[in-house]
Amino acid sequence: MRILVTGASGQLGCELRHCLETMQAEIGPIPEEYRDAAVVYTDTPDLDITNGDAVDEAVRLGRYDLVINCAAMTNVDGCEANESMARLVNAIGAWNLARATKENGIPLVHVSTDYVFPGNEPGERAESDPVSPLSAYGRSKLEGEKLVANANNRHFIVRTAWLYGYVGKNFVKTMMRLGESHDEVTVVDDQLGNPTSANDLAYEILKLALTHDYGVYHCTNEGTCSWADFAEAIMVGAGLDCKVVRCTSEEYKQAHPESADRPHFSSLKNQHLEQAIGNEMRSWQDALQSYFDQREERNSDV
Ligand SMILES: NC(=O)c1ccc[n+]([C@@H]2O[C@H](COP(=O)([O-])OP(=O)(O)OC[C@H]3O[C@@H](n4cnc5c(N)ncnc54)[C@H](OP(=O)(O)O)[C@@H]3O)[C@@H](O)[C@H]2O)c1
Repeated sequence: MRILVTGASGQLGCELRHCLETMQAEIGPIPEEYRDAAVVYTDTPDLDITNGDAVDEAVRLGRYDLVINCAAMTNVDGCEANESMARLVNAIGAWNLARATKENGIPLVHVSTDYVFPGNEPGERAESDPVSPLSAYGRSKLEGEKLVANANNRHFIVRTAWLYGYVGKNFVKTMMRLGESHDEVTVVDDQLGNPTSANDLAYEILKLALTHDYGVYHCTNEGTCSWADFAEAIMVGAGLDCKVVRCTSEEYKQAHPESADRPHFSSLKNQHLEQAIGNEMRSWQDALQSYFDQREERNSDV
Protein backbone atom coordinates (compact mmCIF):
# COMPACT_ATOMS: atom_id res chain seq x y z
CA MET A 1 0.00 0.00 0.00
CA ARG A 2 1.25 3.48 -0.89
CA ILE A 3 0.15 6.39 1.28
CA LEU A 4 0.70 10.16 1.08
CA VAL A 5 0.42 12.15 4.32
CA THR A 6 0.30 15.95 3.94
CA GLY A 7 0.97 18.32 6.83
CA ALA A 8 2.97 15.43 8.28
CA SER A 9 5.07 17.56 10.65
CA GLY A 10 2.03 18.64 12.68
CA GLN A 11 0.49 16.99 15.72
CA LEU A 12 -1.68 14.46 13.89
CA GLY A 13 0.85 13.86 11.12
CA CYS A 14 3.50 12.94 13.68
CA GLU A 15 1.17 10.52 15.46
CA LEU A 16 0.20 8.86 12.17
CA ARG A 17 3.89 8.46 11.43
CA HIS A 18 4.61 7.01 14.86
CA CYS A 19 1.73 4.53 14.52
CA LEU A 20 2.74 3.49 11.00
CA GLU A 21 6.43 3.12 11.89
CA THR A 22 5.79 1.11 15.07
CA MET A 23 2.53 -0.60 13.92
CA GLN A 24 1.22 0.40 17.34
CA ALA A 25 -1.06 3.08 18.73
CA GLU A 26 -1.75 3.69 22.41
CA ILE A 27 -5.21 2.12 22.00
CA GLY A 28 -3.74 -1.00 20.38
CA PRO A 29 -1.99 -2.39 17.30
CA ILE A 30 -2.90 -0.79 13.99
CA PRO A 31 -4.26 -3.07 11.23
CA GLU A 32 -1.77 -5.53 9.64
CA GLU A 33 -2.62 -4.14 6.19
CA TYR A 34 -0.25 -1.26 6.99
CA ARG A 35 2.78 -3.44 7.77
CA ASP A 36 4.59 -2.99 4.46
CA ALA A 37 3.04 0.33 3.57
CA ALA A 38 5.27 2.77 1.70
CA VAL A 39 4.39 6.11 3.25
CA VAL A 40 5.51 9.48 1.95
CA TYR A 41 5.34 12.20 4.62
CA THR A 42 5.22 15.76 3.30
CA ASP A 43 4.78 19.23 4.74
CA THR A 44 5.59 22.71 3.51
CA PRO A 45 7.93 23.42 1.74
CA ASP A 46 8.18 19.98 0.02
CA LEU A 47 4.45 19.88 -0.73
CA ASP A 48 2.42 23.04 -0.20
CA ILE A 49 -1.19 21.97 -0.62
CA THR A 50 -2.18 25.46 -1.79
CA ASN A 51 -0.11 24.85 -4.95
CA GLY A 52 -2.59 23.02 -7.18
CA ASP A 53 -0.03 22.04 -9.84
CA ALA A 54 2.38 20.64 -7.25
CA VAL A 55 -0.44 18.66 -5.63
CA ASP A 56 -1.59 17.27 -9.01
CA GLU A 57 1.93 16.18 -9.85
CA ALA A 58 2.69 14.64 -6.44
CA VAL A 59 -0.56 12.67 -6.38
CA ARG A 60 -0.27 11.51 -10.01
CA LEU A 61 3.39 10.46 -9.83
CA GLY A 62 3.10 8.85 -6.39
CA ARG A 63 0.57 6.21 -7.52
CA TYR A 64 -0.91 6.24 -4.02
CA ASP A 65 -3.69 4.05 -2.67
CA LEU A 66 -4.63 6.57 0.02
CA VAL A 67 -4.04 10.25 0.84
CA ILE A 68 -4.39 11.58 4.39
CA ASN A 69 -4.56 15.36 4.67
CA CYS A 70 -3.31 16.64 8.04
CA ALA A 71 -2.24 20.01 6.64
CA ALA A 72 -4.15 23.00 7.96
CA MET A 73 -3.88 26.48 9.36
CA THR A 74 -4.94 25.64 12.93
CA ASN A 75 -4.20 28.86 14.81
CA VAL A 76 -7.82 29.88 15.44
CA ASP A 77 -7.02 33.50 16.38
CA GLY A 78 -4.48 33.71 13.55
CA CYS A 79 -7.20 32.66 11.09
CA GLU A 80 -9.41 35.47 12.41
CA ALA A 81 -6.64 37.96 11.63
CA ASN A 82 -5.95 36.48 8.17
CA GLU A 83 -9.09 34.85 6.82
CA SER A 84 -7.86 34.80 3.23
CA MET A 85 -4.83 32.72 4.24
CA ALA A 86 -7.04 30.43 6.33
CA ARG A 87 -9.30 29.94 3.31
CA LEU A 88 -6.35 29.29 1.02
CA VAL A 89 -4.96 26.48 3.18
CA ASN A 90 -8.09 25.03 4.81
CA ALA A 91 -10.46 25.26 1.84
CA ILE A 92 -8.51 25.63 -1.43
CA GLY A 93 -5.66 23.38 -0.26
CA ALA A 94 -8.15 20.68 0.70
CA TRP A 95 -9.92 21.10 -2.64
CA ASN A 96 -6.62 20.70 -4.53
CA LEU A 97 -6.10 17.35 -2.80
CA ALA A 98 -9.71 16.28 -3.41
CA ARG A 99 -9.53 17.05 -7.14
CA ALA A 100 -6.17 15.32 -7.54
CA THR A 101 -7.25 12.21 -5.63
CA LYS A 102 -10.52 12.04 -7.59
CA GLU A 103 -8.58 12.28 -10.85
CA ASN A 104 -6.43 9.34 -9.79
CA GLY A 105 -9.23 7.25 -8.22
CA ILE A 106 -7.84 7.51 -4.66
CA PRO A 107 -9.74 7.91 -1.38
CA LEU A 108 -8.95 11.01 0.68
CA VAL A 109 -9.03 11.36 4.44
CA HIS A 110 -9.55 15.02 5.29
CA VAL A 111 -9.57 16.23 8.90
CA SER A 112 -11.98 18.89 10.08
CA THR A 113 -13.20 20.45 13.31
CA ASP A 114 -15.93 20.84 15.91
CA TYR A 115 -15.72 24.59 15.20
CA VAL A 116 -17.98 24.11 12.15
CA PHE A 117 -20.82 24.08 14.72
CA PRO A 118 -22.28 27.24 16.30
CA GLY A 119 -22.45 25.51 19.68
CA ASN A 120 -25.48 27.38 20.94
CA GLU A 121 -27.25 24.43 22.58
CA PRO A 122 -26.07 21.90 25.14
CA GLY A 123 -25.51 18.25 24.26
CA GLU A 124 -23.45 16.31 21.74
CA ARG A 125 -23.45 17.14 18.04
CA ALA A 126 -24.11 14.34 15.53
CA GLU A 127 -22.55 14.38 12.06
CA SER A 128 -25.84 15.45 10.45
CA ASP A 129 -26.54 18.36 12.83
CA PRO A 130 -26.71 21.83 11.26
CA VAL A 131 -23.39 23.62 10.88
CA SER A 132 -22.83 27.36 11.17
CA PRO A 133 -19.32 28.37 12.22
CA LEU A 134 -18.64 31.39 14.42
CA SER A 135 -15.03 31.95 13.43
CA ALA A 136 -12.90 32.42 10.32
CA TYR A 137 -11.17 29.12 11.14
CA GLY A 138 -14.55 27.33 11.30
CA ARG A 139 -15.73 28.96 8.06
CA SER A 140 -12.55 27.97 6.22
CA LYS A 141 -12.76 24.39 7.51
CA LEU A 142 -16.44 24.11 6.57
CA GLU A 143 -15.72 25.37 3.08
CA GLY A 144 -12.94 22.76 2.88
CA GLU A 145 -15.40 20.02 3.90
CA LYS A 146 -17.85 21.07 1.20
CA LEU A 147 -15.20 21.32 -1.52
CA VAL A 148 -13.77 17.92 -0.59
CA ALA A 149 -17.18 16.25 -0.51
CA ASN A 150 -18.13 17.69 -3.91
CA ALA A 151 -14.83 16.95 -5.61
CA ASN A 152 -14.17 13.36 -4.48
CA ASN A 153 -16.98 11.05 -3.41
CA ARG A 154 -14.38 8.69 -1.91
CA HIS A 155 -13.84 10.96 1.10
CA PHE A 156 -13.59 10.48 4.81
CA ILE A 157 -14.16 13.88 6.43
CA VAL A 158 -13.14 13.34 10.06
CA ARG A 159 -14.08 16.10 12.50
CA THR A 160 -12.08 16.18 15.69
CA ALA A 161 -11.57 18.66 18.54
CA TRP A 162 -9.16 20.06 21.16
CA LEU A 163 -6.31 17.99 19.75
CA TYR A 164 -3.01 17.39 21.54
CA GLY A 165 0.01 15.29 20.64
CA TYR A 166 3.65 14.94 21.62
CA VAL A 167 4.97 17.14 18.81
CA GLY A 168 3.89 20.72 18.19
CA LYS A 169 1.91 23.31 20.10
CA ASN A 170 -1.23 22.49 22.03
CA PHE A 171 -3.25 23.39 25.13
CA VAL A 172 -1.68 20.64 27.26
CA LYS A 173 1.82 21.94 26.65
CA THR A 174 0.75 25.57 27.12
CA MET A 175 -0.87 24.76 30.48
CA MET A 176 2.20 22.82 31.60
CA ARG A 177 4.48 25.70 30.65
CA LEU A 178 2.27 28.22 32.47
CA GLY A 179 1.87 25.87 35.44
CA GLU A 180 5.63 25.68 35.85
CA SER A 181 6.04 29.46 36.05
CA HIS A 182 2.77 30.73 37.59
CA ASP A 183 0.83 30.16 40.81
CA GLU A 184 -2.46 30.53 38.98
CA VAL A 185 -3.80 30.60 35.47
CA THR A 186 -7.15 31.94 34.22
CA VAL A 187 -9.06 29.65 31.87
CA VAL A 188 -12.48 29.82 30.18
CA ASP A 189 -15.12 27.71 31.90
CA ASP A 190 -18.17 28.11 29.64
CA GLN A 191 -16.93 26.44 26.46
CA LEU A 192 -17.48 22.67 26.53
CA GLY A 193 -15.88 20.12 24.22
CA ASN A 194 -13.84 16.93 23.95
CA PRO A 195 -10.07 16.96 24.54
CA THR A 196 -8.66 14.48 22.02
CA SER A 197 -5.39 12.58 21.81
CA ALA A 198 -3.82 12.83 18.34
CA ASN A 199 -2.53 9.28 18.82
CA ASP A 200 -6.06 7.94 19.38
CA LEU A 201 -7.34 9.89 16.38
CA ALA A 202 -4.53 8.49 14.20
CA TYR A 203 -5.52 4.95 15.22
CA GLU A 204 -9.17 5.43 14.26
CA ILE A 205 -8.26 7.16 10.98
CA LEU A 206 -6.06 4.22 9.99
CA LYS A 207 -8.88 1.77 10.72
CA LEU A 208 -11.50 3.86 8.96
CA ALA A 209 -9.38 4.35 5.84
CA LEU A 210 -9.41 0.59 5.16
CA THR A 211 -13.19 0.67 4.70
CA HIS A 212 -15.32 1.94 1.84
CA ASP A 213 -17.70 3.68 4.23
CA TYR A 214 -17.11 7.16 2.90
CA GLY A 215 -18.73 10.17 4.53
CA VAL A 216 -18.50 12.56 7.47
CA TYR A 217 -17.26 11.26 10.83
CA HIS A 218 -16.85 12.64 14.31
CA CYS A 219 -13.85 11.31 16.17
CA THR A 220 -13.01 12.65 19.62
CA ASN A 221 -12.16 11.13 22.95
CA GLU A 222 -15.24 10.33 25.02
CA GLY A 223 -16.63 12.72 27.64
CA THR A 224 -17.19 16.44 27.76
CA CYS A 225 -15.48 19.09 29.86
CA SER A 226 -14.68 22.80 29.85
CA TRP A 227 -11.24 24.24 29.05
CA ALA A 228 -10.92 25.00 32.78
CA ASP A 229 -11.72 21.35 33.72
CA PHE A 230 -9.16 20.24 31.13
CA ALA A 231 -6.57 22.67 32.54
CA GLU A 232 -7.14 21.34 36.07
CA ALA A 233 -6.68 17.75 34.89
CA ILE A 234 -3.44 18.78 33.16
CA MET A 235 -2.09 20.44 36.33
CA VAL A 236 -2.91 17.32 38.35
CA GLY A 237 -1.50 14.94 35.71
CA ALA A 238 1.72 16.96 35.42
CA GLY A 239 2.03 17.27 39.21
CA LEU A 240 1.94 21.08 39.07
CA ASP A 241 0.76 23.19 41.96
CA CYS A 242 -1.01 25.86 39.91
CA LYS A 243 -4.53 27.06 40.62
CA VAL A 244 -6.99 27.25 37.71
CA VAL A 245 -9.11 30.40 38.01
CA ARG A 246 -12.32 30.08 36.00
CA CYS A 247 -13.59 32.88 33.74
CA THR A 248 -16.36 33.33 31.18
CA SER A 249 -15.86 33.68 27.43
CA GLU A 250 -17.05 37.27 27.78
CA GLU A 251 -14.37 38.06 30.37
CA TYR A 252 -11.73 36.38 28.18
CA LYS A 253 -12.88 38.38 25.15
CA GLN A 254 -12.63 41.64 27.13
CA ALA A 255 -9.04 40.82 27.97
CA HIS A 256 -8.27 39.55 24.41
CA PRO A 257 -10.52 41.53 22.03
CA GLU A 258 -8.74 40.21 18.95
CA SER A 259 -9.52 36.58 19.79
CA ALA A 260 -11.97 34.56 17.68
CA ASP A 261 -15.41 33.61 18.99
CA ARG A 262 -15.66 29.94 19.88
CA PRO A 263 -18.71 27.70 20.38
CA HIS A 264 -20.05 27.20 23.91
CA PHE A 265 -21.11 23.59 23.23
CA SER A 266 -19.13 21.74 20.57
CA SER A 267 -18.98 18.28 22.06
CA LEU A 268 -19.14 15.65 19.28
CA LYS A 269 -20.86 12.27 19.22
CA ASN A 270 -18.86 9.55 17.39
CA GLN A 271 -22.01 8.12 15.86
CA HIS A 272 -20.82 7.18 12.36
CA LEU A 273 -17.55 5.84 13.73
CA GLU A 274 -19.50 3.52 16.02
CA GLN A 275 -21.64 2.35 13.10
CA ALA A 276 -18.75 1.89 10.64
CA ILE A 277 -15.89 0.36 12.64
CA GLY A 278 -16.90 0.52 16.31
CA ASN A 279 -15.94 3.44 18.50
CA GLU A 280 -12.74 2.57 20.37
CA MET A 281 -12.03 6.12 21.50
CA ARG A 282 -11.17 6.22 25.21
CA SER A 283 -12.41 8.69 27.79
CA TRP A 284 -10.52 11.97 27.58
CA GLN A 285 -9.23 11.37 31.11
CA ASP A 286 -7.74 7.95 30.18
CA ALA A 287 -6.18 9.39 27.04
CA LEU A 288 -4.65 12.28 29.02
CA GLN A 289 -3.25 9.87 31.61
CA SER A 290 -1.72 7.84 28.79
CA TYR A 291 -0.15 11.05 27.42
CA PHE A 292 1.54 11.71 30.76
CA ASP A 293 2.64 8.07 30.97
CA GLN A 294 4.22 8.12 27.48
CA ARG A 295 5.48 11.70 27.45
CA GLU A 296 9.05 11.12 28.58
CA GLU A 297 9.66 8.26 26.20
CA ARG A 298 7.99 10.01 23.27
CA ASN A 299 9.77 13.30 23.88
CA SER A 300 13.08 11.50 23.55
CA ASP A 301 11.96 10.36 20.04
CA VAL A 302 11.86 13.90 18.68
N1 LIG B 1 -5.28 21.36 16.84
C1 LIG B 1 -6.54 21.25 17.22
O1 LIG B 1 -6.91 21.49 18.37
C2 LIG B 1 -7.57 20.78 16.22
C3 LIG B 1 -8.92 20.76 16.61
C4 LIG B 1 -9.87 20.34 15.69
C5 LIG B 1 -9.49 19.96 14.42
N2 LIG B 1 -8.18 20.00 14.07
C6 LIG B 1 -7.83 19.62 12.68
O2 LIG B 1 -7.00 18.48 12.76
C7 LIG B 1 -6.05 18.49 11.69
C8 LIG B 1 -4.66 18.28 12.24
O3 LIG B 1 -4.40 19.33 13.17
P1 LIG B 1 -3.01 19.45 13.93
O4 LIG B 1 -3.30 19.93 15.30
O5 LIG B 1 -2.19 18.21 13.71
O6 LIG B 1 -2.39 20.66 13.11
P2 LIG B 1 -0.92 21.26 13.21
O7 LIG B 1 -0.15 20.64 14.32
O8 LIG B 1 -1.06 22.73 13.15
O9 LIG B 1 -0.26 20.71 11.86
C9 LIG B 1 -0.66 21.18 10.60
C10 LIG B 1 0.54 21.01 9.70
O10 LIG B 1 0.15 21.48 8.40
C11 LIG B 1 1.22 22.28 7.91
N3 LIG B 1 0.76 23.19 6.87
C12 LIG B 1 0.24 24.44 7.02
N4 LIG B 1 -0.03 24.96 5.81
C13 LIG B 1 0.33 24.04 4.90
C14 LIG B 1 0.32 24.00 3.49
N5 LIG B 1 -0.11 25.04 2.77
N6 LIG B 1 0.76 22.89 2.86
C15 LIG B 1 1.22 21.83 3.58
N7 LIG B 1 1.28 21.81 4.92
C16 LIG B 1 0.84 22.90 5.57
C17 LIG B 1 1.72 23.00 9.13
O11 LIG B 1 3.00 23.55 8.90
P3 LIG B 1 3.37 24.91 9.70
O12 LIG B 1 3.34 24.55 11.13
O13 LIG B 1 4.71 25.21 9.15
O14 LIG B 1 2.32 25.91 9.33
C18 LIG B 1 1.74 21.85 10.14
O15 LIG B 1 2.92 21.09 10.05
C19 LIG B 1 -6.28 19.81 10.96
O16 LIG B 1 -7.11 19.60 9.86
C20 LIG B 1 -7.01 20.66 11.96
O17 LIG B 1 -7.83 21.65 11.36
C21 LIG B 1 -7.22 20.39 14.94
